[in-house]
Amino acid sequence: MKTTLITGASSGIGEAFARRLARDGENVLLVARTESKLEILCSELGRASNINAQYVALDLTETDAPSKLFEETKARGLEVEMLINNAGFGSMGDFLQLDLERELQMVDLNIKALVALTYLFLGPMRERGRGSIINVASTAGFQPVPYMTTYAATKAFVLSFSDALWEENRAHGVSVMALCPGVTDTNFFAASEMERPPMRVSQTPEQVVDTALKGLKRGRGHIISGWTNYILTESERLVPRSLVARVVGKALRPGKTGDNDDGENL
Ligand SMILES: NC(=O)c1ccc[n+]([C@@H]2O[C@H](COP(=O)([O-])OP(=O)(O)OC[C@H]3O[C@@H](n4cnc5c(N)ncnc54)[C@H](OP(=O)(O)O)[C@@H]3O)[C@@H](O)[C@H]2O)c1
Repeated sequence: MKTTLITGASSGIGEAFARRLARDGENVLLVARTESKLEILCSELGRASNINAQYVALDLTETDAPSKLFEETKARGLEVEMLINNAGFGSMGDFLQLDLERELQMVDLNIKALVALTYLFLGPMRERGRGSIINVASTAGFQPVPYMTTYAATKAFVLSFSDALWEENRAHGVSVMALCPGVTDTNFFAASEMERPPMRVSQTPEQVVDTALKGLKRGRGHIISGWTNYILTESERLVPRSLVARVVGKALRPGKTGDNDDGENL
């Protein structure tokens, strides 16, 4: 059975992907740690949209989680036609004051699990000559972000990784795209124990999902969600990275958040 696998589907952008794709008639396989949320969402989607909605409750930071998930899809007879690597979290503060274990867990989830899942599911997609992968990066991936140092670096990885795989796989009929949202109204800030930057502009997860699906249809390697985010991100590229780092660092320095709204990227 053809299906779309969505990681981090128990809330926020992942949940919005699940709701939208189910409404569009796609079967979904939802992954996150919180089984109770996945169970409720699956039965709601199955009832409302008459699609097949299944879940796997899994902590993707565990070393063998991606291969377990891959084997589970095979055991359930699922053909993953679309993979949405969305699960992720962040942290904020002076790098040396942050908990090392949590920083490394972030690398495990935002990078290691994403690379492993991409590797495992890309093979069968290439064999079939069709499929798509959306990797959720961030506008934070376009520049250094002091005080969100590890998080921004993980998203820079996702962006570069996806843009490169986009080119490698076009000729094989498989689309790979990085989705780069800016500030989005989700559980992200609470889950990441981060102060929500004082943005005037934020998007809903539904708007982000809509942008993603349009970008995928257009065959994009990456897409920035929202015009304001697009203009800010593209204009920063014209400025030396050291200057961007200084300005963003000043805005996000602990104790400074809330004083101004320079730190637009997330
Ligand atoms: N919100 C923003 O402003 C924003 C901006 C740019 C990019 N993003 C990116 O968007 C993606 C989705 O975030 P969101 O904003 O929707 O935040 P969210 O509401 O906190 O959703 C995060 C999802 O990831 C799951 N998750 C967390 N740790 C996990 C783990 N170890 N194993 C499996 N699943 C795990 C969570 O479910 P469980 O807790 O149940 O596991 C949840 O479903 C992230 O990659 C984030 O970096 C967000």
